[in-house]
Amino acid sequence: MDKESSPELTRRNFITKFVMSGGLIAGAVLLLRNSLSFIFPKIEPPLLRKLLIGKVGDLQPGQAQEIPFGESILYLINTKDGYKVFSSVCTHLGCIINWESYRSRFYCPCHKGIFNENGEVVEGPPPRPLDEFKVEIDKNLIYMWIEEKSGGLS
Ligand code: FES
Repeated sequence: MDKESSPELTRRNFITKFVMSGGLIAGAVLLLRNSLSFIFPKIEPPLLRKLLIGKVGDLQPGQAQEIPFGESILYLINTKDGYKVFSSVCTHLGCIINWESYRSRFYCPCHKGIFNENGEVVEGPPPRPLDEFKVEIDKNLIYMWIEEKSGGLS
């Protein structure tokens, strides 16, 4: 009997081919799955947290109030368009802005950047408006929404 055509050798060949094909198919599926997750990454919606920051009526129109927040300060301002909350970080080079109530503006002392009460750039080098946070009024209380990042808030 020829050694090549013996039943044992044929069974061994079949099993070897079967295992190798399975490995190749599993590898191809894994490669495809990883490629797809690289091309279309899963984007998690940001975690938002609602914080109580004030009471309606406590702030006169045109007034702003500093809200200490961690190591930074936010500004709650009562504008003619409603309550707004802005970051105190200048969008130019990150200096801390100040609210000047007598001029109804935010002023950055570093390079004389000026923002109006809506956080829009009026004058100076800041390239964009102040970062603004979403505000919600519920039962005469003022809340703001802030994104919660792993290990802290932003
Ligand atoms: S950092 Fe505010 S204007 Fe430059």
